[in-house]
Amino acid sequence: MIIIANWKAYVEDIGKAKELFTVSKKLAKDTGNGIVLAPPAPLLGILAAKNASSVAFGAQDISATTGGAETGEITAQTYAAAGATYAIVGHSERRARGDTDTLVSEKLRHALAHGLTPVLCIGEHSRDTDGRYLSFIREELTTAISPLTPRERGKIVLAYEPLWAIGKTASEAIAADDLAEMTLYIKKVLAEIFSGKSSARIPVLYGGSVEPDNVRALAELAGIDGFLVGHASVDPRLFALLVKQLA
Ligand code: PGA
Repeated sequence: MIIIANWKAYVEDIGKAKELFTVSKKLAKDTGNGIVLAPPAPLLGILAAKNASSVAFGAQDISATTGGAETGEITAQTYAAAGATYAIVGHSERRARGDTDTLVSEKLRHALAHGLTPVLCIGEHSRDTDGRYLSFIREELTTAISPLTPRERGKIVLAYEPLWAIGKTASEAIAADDLAEMTLYIKKVLAEIFSGKSSARIPVLYGGSVEPDNVRALAELAGIDGFLVGHASVDPRLFALLVKQLA
């Protein structure tokens, strides 16, 4: 299982960041799960500089630029130089601040060009009874990865994160059987995009109120390869409880 801890802007000091890093190193060792920490950029720089563990680091977002006169932008190359090996791209909280499908696609390319594994986030805003959310997912996924070469496409990780399930509690997250259905659908769309070749190797993660109370059911029933965890990843006790259930 891959567990990506999206710290968002919840963690703002180095003491807390170090505590979470220490817990994560032990969890990765004890459970054999792949843990990727996505701290705010300056904290990533500090932690990743001294990293000799199996815990990996990921950017929460990367710039769509390639450097130069771009005040405030942090490029894929900078993240790679700081020790990141993953980059979350197209998170709904970035899309809400203006990331379009085209921009998301450019960011995927930049991440790949600098050796970062992009974690492409897709997810519908809400669910309707006539299945329009399925077309939305198909469109979002296809628009983001169609411009990539087959080789590039083979290197991405996908995170299905329905917006209605983000930042809530386990009881309001997606039900395991609904996630199982969506996972199958996403794999079918991927197989179409890849014309059947090698799409099975693309890991599909789930994110949206993953907590110790629902993680096991989702992992057992839904056919997914891991989780993108937000609020439960910044509480060391909750995060440990959650990851241990995936051992
Ligand atoms: P959440 O966030 O676990 O707090 O719902 C997940 C995410 O937005 O990646």
